[in-house]
Amino acid sequence: MRVIAIDGPAASGKSSTAAAVARRLGWAHLDSGALYRALTLAALDHLEPPAGGADAPWSAAQVLGLAEDLPVRLVLAADVFRPEVAGVGVEDAIRSERVTRRVSALAAIPALRHWVNVQQREAALGHPQGVVVDGRDIGTVVFPDAPVKVFLTASPEERARRRLAQRGGAAGTEAREVAIDPAELRRETTALAARDHADATRPVAPLRAAADAVLLDTTRLSLDEQVARVVALARERFPG
Ligand code: C5P
Repeated sequence: MRVIAIDGPAASGKSSTAAAVARRLGWAHLDSGALYRALTLAALDHLEPPAGGADAPWSAAQVLGLAEDLPVRLVLAADVFRPEVAGVGVEDAIRSERVTRRVSALAAIPALRHWVNVQQREAALGHPQGVVVDGRDIGTVVFPDAPVKVFLTASPEERARRRLAQRGGAAGTEAREVAIDPAELRRETTALAARDHADATRPVAPLRAAADAVLLDTTRLSLDEQVARVVALARERFPG
């Protein structure tokens, strides 16, 4: 199985690392969070607010019906699996605050996780050169036999700083070079902590490191250093 699984909490650098590792190896990149976000976006835009108030969970059957009808899917282009809703790329729309606020509740619904997992496994089968997949449960549930598993962490404040720098800084700027308002940093740290708590305490496929994952604390690493570590692991496990 040519899969590299990269898991970790929100804004730990999983997707940037996974994308760069995939480019270096000539493999494809699949961001599983993008699929949960695309489902959330589709539900927000196409379903009535759930019975019980705007913050109540949607019914799994309704969201699944929508996912099949619209459809919500991943499309492979230039070795990157990108989310589409009704034939339209939603790469930017899925990063909006309204999606981020609702995605963890949707991702806690077992039938929706099953649907997302099927999409991921089909995508990987369709790309035999290899796929770098990032998320929360890739090494524990989706690809438990992945030969390389990495669990990325970083301090909550560093993750919040990176997230804000990503929004406010020029592309390619290291997070620590961007000036950040302390009040905004506190707000973002709290929001990330709430999402991590929801992801780590749900009964189904909670966020946690697989027993055989390599733990990589990236608080003091640059993106290049993180990428180099994962590529080195990959070259050990997939020589040639
Ligand atoms: O990775 P990202 O932060 O974009 O993921 C958005 C949300 O999707 C996470 O907070 C989590 O609730 C959910 N998710 C998940 N399992 C994955 C990937 C993402 O539950 N494998």
